[in-house]
Amino acid sequence: MAKTVVVLGTQWGDEGKGKIVDSLTERADLVVRFQGGNNAGHTVMVDDKEIILHLIPSGILHEDKLCLMGNGLVINPKALLEEMKELTDRGIRLNNNLKISKNAHLIMPYHLAIEKEKEAQKGKKKIGTTLRGIGPAYVDKMARIGIRVVDLLYPDVLREKIEANLTELNPVLSKVYGAREFDTEEVFREYMEYAEKLMPFIDDTDIIVNEAIDEGKKVLFEGAQGTLLDIDHGTYPYVTSSSPTAGGVCTGAGVGPTKINTILGVVKAYTTRVGSGPFPTEIKGPFGDEIRERGGEYGATTGRPRRCGWLDFVALRHAVRINGLTGLIITKLDVLDGIETLRVCTAYRYEGELITEFPKALNILEQCEPVYEEIEGWTESTRGINDFNKLPENARRYLKHIEDTLGVPVDIISTGKKRDDIIILKEHFE
Ligand code: GDP
Ligand code: IMO
Ligand code: MG
Repeated sequence: MAKTVVVLGTQWGDEGKGKIVDSLTERADLVVRFQGGNNAGHTVMVDDKEIILHLIPSGILHEDKLCLMGNGLVINPKALLEEMKELTDRGIRLNNNLKISKNAHLIMPYHLAIEKEKEAQKGKKKIGTTLRGIGPAYVDKMARIGIRVVDLLYPDVLREKIEANLTELNPVLSKVYGAREFDTEEVFREYMEYAEKLMPFIDDTDIIVNEAIDEGKKVLFEGAQGTLLDIDHGTYPYVTSSSPTAGGVCTGAGVGPTKINTILGVVKAYTTRVGSGPFPTEIKGPFGDEIRERGGEYGATTGRPRRCGWLDFVALRHAVRINGLTGLIITKLDVLDGIETLRVCTAYRYEGELITEFPKALNILEQCEPVYEEIEGWTESTRGINDFNKLPENARRYLKHIEDTLGVPVDIISTGKKRDDIIILKEHFE
């Protein structure tokens, strides 16, 4: 039995990670986010009320569990404080149950400004980012000019870094883009206010999580985004700027690979993508719209309509390999209820040739045509079913087909939005 379980996205995000993490938190002691920022939107339903978490781990709704925001995150303190307020307004207590890594990087107001200009300049080639400043914050991290959470504790260091960054960036904003410049003192004062409020939560999350593992506690790692949005393994450049894949857990939480027991990949029973970039199994036209409406496929962060398509085994085989998945979690099975014939993509056709491995070159991927296999659907409702044997035969067949094709067992199935709309075929924690 595992002590450390990773739950991550295998597609282009929005697979239902938040719901799954919330459901599994009951069995865990700690929940840890390891990458991304408030580009994520993780929806959790409690007592018929929907809560969308962007930065705080989806385990936070379980009062007695410890939630960590790891060093791999980029944190907009304003957005974090707003999220914290939303939770406390709902009666969720936040004190010792939330810790923020000193090494996480801060999203600054100028990150949002520069991203807005750069996306606009790209025109048709825009990435379609969430405009939350994620990319520019990670750029600064890699350029070694980023401002970290720990800097909030040292005002002189903070001011000096803001000043150095703005000296370089202000002329770019005003002269290249004709945009507004930022004032060091103004930004500094704003961030000192955040510092005061966040101080009690800042900690050495790497030490906390490793001590917890050593003590035999059960740790759940919550991925944001998905494998195909990974900076290395996704559809570059139409990706996010972090590592949502399994390797990101180690660097983003400060946990060695030998400490990770189980890696579960969340697979939506079909595929969605929000933002630009290639999507071979996309269904254009009325049927794609129908799936969007059935599945409520609108962005949890930006409200944008999600592009919808069939399940893609070429992409999923890539996700299985890159992440070393030990199990699958199939979500939103109920959205496929009543569809007469389902399709799954088994290969791509490119210039008359069959391709079975996910292409690295974007110009090839963009021209790939999906090759489909048809599978008979089911007419009965699966919504809310908790017992595998009560699923319609064809739904079980669809799940078995996924399991056989990918060579990874389906451990969990989600049949609705609510916490209890879940079939757990394998328990991962003791
Ligand atoms: P995440 O980013 O991976 O956490 O996923 P999102 O929260 O962005 O999007 C998933 C959406 O599907 C949310 O509205 C969830 O409430 C909903 N959802 C999750 N699991 C299921 C499911 O099994 N069935 C249905 N119908 N909806 C689900
Ligand atoms: P969760 O955790 C779906 C997409 C954006 C854009 C690209 C880059 O809810 O699954 P960014 O703002 O990260 O620089 O945008 O990545 N994107 C997501 N799509 N779910 C997400 O998170 C996403 N986070 C970013 O739409 O295409
Ligand atoms: Mg989401």
